[in-house]
Amino acid sequence: MLNSRRQLLQAGAGLLLVGPVAHPLQALAQTPVCDDSPTPRQIEGPFYTPQTPKRSDLTSGLSGQVLVLEGRVLNTQCQPIANAIVDLWGCDAQGNYDNKGFKLRGHQFTDSQGRFRFQTIKPGAYGNSSFRRTPHLHVKVQGQGTPLLTTQLYFPDEPLNQQDGFYNPALLVQIGESKAQTVLASFDFVLPARSEG
Ligand SMILES: [Fe+2]
Repeated sequence: MLNSRRQLLQAGAGLLLVGPVAHPLQALAQTPVCDDSPTPRQIEGPFYTPQTPKRSDLTSGLSGQVLVLEGRVLNTQCQPIANAIVDLWGCDAQGNYDNKGFKLRGHQFTDSQGRFRFQTIKPGAYGNSSFRRTPHLHVKVQGQGTPLLTTQLYFPDEPLNQQDGFYNPALLVQIGESKAQTVLASFDFVLPARSEG
């Protein structure tokens, strides 16, 4: 029985010698799997408010489908970036931004594993017949030594995605288990080093 990582590595190394079909080391990878291309940038839009509260629950007592957004901030080597700021803002379920206060706005810092987790309200679509935005979230992300990333996140299977000129499938969240009025979404941000940005 293999009872240590060293033994597993030794076994894997042996198997790798017998032919190209055995790849046991892949299952032992400690580095999280990520797409190492930096997350695409998008415009800030007109509704950013600086100096948001530091908090994870942005729901602000508003009605709508609760959206839990979690993920990590990584560098282009797929390593976690701790203490990166993640500043999230969005409109409510009816497509309205709170431009006087901080409803549905807030920031937090990633933990030692680069993780963040917000609870907010799933945004609605907004605009008119000539300029319609599909549901999206706005976000600014920055780690120490990285350029500031300003971008937006989108949701799969939204009917308006293809009609929104800003929509980018590289910015789709992954939808996880959803219960009743709560939907779980995840997204990993990949930040370049300052010299790469
Ligand atoms: Fe927006």
